Amino acid sequence: MRQEKMTVVQQTEIAQQVYELVLTGDLVSEMQTPGQFLHLLVPRNDLLLRRPISIASIDHRAQQCTLLYRVVGEGTKALALLQAKDQIDVLGPNGNGFPLTAANQGDVAYLIGGGIGVPPLYELAKQLHEKGVQVTSILGFRTKEDSFYVDAFKQWGKVYVATEDGSLGQAGHVGQYMETLATPDVVYACGPNAMLKAVDSQYADLANVYLSLEERMACGIGACYGCVCESNNGTLYKVCQDGPVFKGGLIKL
Ligand code: FES
Repeated sequence: MRQEKMTVVQQTEIAQQVYELVLTGDLVSEMQTPGQFLHLLVPRNDLLLRRPISIASIDHRAQQCTLLYRVVGEGTKALALLQAKDQIDVLGPNGNGFPLTAANQGDVAYLIGGGIGVPPLYELAKQLHEKGVQVTSILGFRTKEDSFYVDAFKQWGKVYVATEDGSLGQAGHVGQYMETLATPDVVYACGPNAMLKAVDSQYADLANVYLSLEERMACGIGACYGCVCESNNGTLYKVCQDGPVFKGGLIKL
C-alpha cells in the first residue's frame, strides 16, 4: 500500500448516478488481487475523509485501473466532477481481496453481486476466466437504468440479471437464481448485507464461499476501528484491514 497522486484518464457516467473513473499511475503495478480497494482523497478542502472505492478492473499494460462508484453524498459528488488530466491523491491498494486459489481450472464459480457491489467482481471474473474457471455472474440491480457492465461480464461467462422492477432480466432478487441453479464449486459475492446473508445461508454447506462486505470506512488502514464487524464467535474484525473479503459463515451479517 502506497500513497500516490494518480492522473484521471477519463470519467463517464455509465448508469444513473454511477460513474466509471479511469486512473493512471505507477500504483497500478501494485494492484493484483481482485476485491481490493483504493482510498481516494476527495478533491474538496472541507471534506477530510477519504472514500473507499473498489477496483473494478486493472490493466497493467496500459498502466490504468478503473473504478466504478455511485454518487451518494458530498464526497462522491465531488469525485464525479473530476475530469481528464486532473490529479487525485490515492492510497492503496487496501484490504484483502478475493482468493483466486479457491477456484481451480474447470471449476464452476458463481459471482453474485448487488448494485454497487458488482464492480469488484468484474476484475475477478476476468482473472478467473483467464485461469480456466467456468464463471457464472449473477447480478442484481434496482432497475435497468441502475444497471451497468452486464454485457461486459458476458465476455467472461454466463450472466443472469435480476432487477427489482423487472425492467432487465428477471423481476426480483439474485436469490431466485441461487435457489434454482445447481450448487457451484466456489461462490464469491459482494453487495448489501441482506444479499450476503442470503448467499451465506444458501451455500452454508459449501467450503469455498467468499463475501466482500460493504462497510462505511474512515481511515481505511486499520487505525480508527470505524469499520469493525463481529464474527459468529464474537471475534471483532476490521473490514478495511482484515477484509473486505471474508470467508462465508465467519461474520455475523
Ligand atoms: Fe479505520 Fe477500518 S476504517 S479501522
